[in-house]
Amino acid sequence: MRLQDKYKELQSTSVALLATNFYNFETLEGVLQAAVRCNSPIILQLTRSSIDYLGLPLALQMARTAIDYHGLKAWVHLDHGDSYELAAQCLDAGFDSVMIDASEKPFRENIKTTKKVVALASKYGACVEAELGYVAKLGQSTEKEGFTMPEEAGRFVDETGVDALAVAIGTSHGFYKKEPRLDLERLSRIREVTNAALVLHGGSGVPHATLRDAISRGICKINLATEIKNIFMKTLKAKLENESEIDLRKVFPDAIDAVTSLVMEKLNVVNNK
Ligand code: 13P
Repeated sequence: MRLQDKYKELQSTSVALLATNFYNFETLEGVLQAAVRCNSPIILQLTRSSIDYLGLPLALQMARTAIDYHGLKAWVHLDHGDSYELAAQCLDAGFDSVMIDASEKPFRENIKTTKKVVALASKYGACVEAELGYVAKLGQSTEKEGFTMPEEAGRFVDETGVDALAVAIGTSHGFYKKEPRLDLERLSRIREVTNAALVLHGGSGVPHATLRDAISRGICKINLATEIKNIFMKTLKAKLENESEIDLRKVFPDAIDAVTSLVMEKLNVVNNK
């Protein structure tokens, strides 16, 4: 099933998809083990940095082979594609879905760029996600406000034909200094004026009750990255501090398992369990 069709199926339910970033074989395996144990579909995301690190064909084929090996329903998605060219490369390589993030550009320019990617993706039958509003990226100010305006969201989706829309309602990427307070009323208003699948970026550190509320108001996809990196590296560091093992096949499994436990928890939330 195409991701855009899965989103449509989810629109009227209280279930969403979890979209997890992966960085290497170990984080990929940790995430997929969780999907296997929860018998859940999942989205695997790659950013430009991860693609640069792994190499595009290897990153994609590693994900595809692992998905098939585990017998899972999963989609490969480009997270925060920052140019038409990168989106085009990923579509050509066989990604199921790409995000074109022109959210820092003026409204008209965001529409223009997104529209171009939507036109290209339709040739591949692929799904497109865009972003409207300001969701602070790592290192950017979390003070600056730029919530998605419902009327603009409606126009944006109508004009671009995008399948999924990331909204700015109070989340940001990375660790939160204090518990995030989401503007869920705004989310409901955005839902009323658009039928695109709504996406919540910055899922790490958002209380589970808030995630559930956001899903019930129309969020179809929740992105998770920071908590995966954090638990993986913390577990690995603790392991290395206590022993001098150099067989890396004995060193990584604890960190993989920690990712699995974390992702299982999140999958239970998005699957309304
Ligand atoms: P976190 O790193 O805050 O989980 O956000 C992930 C994300 O939104 C990726 O696009």
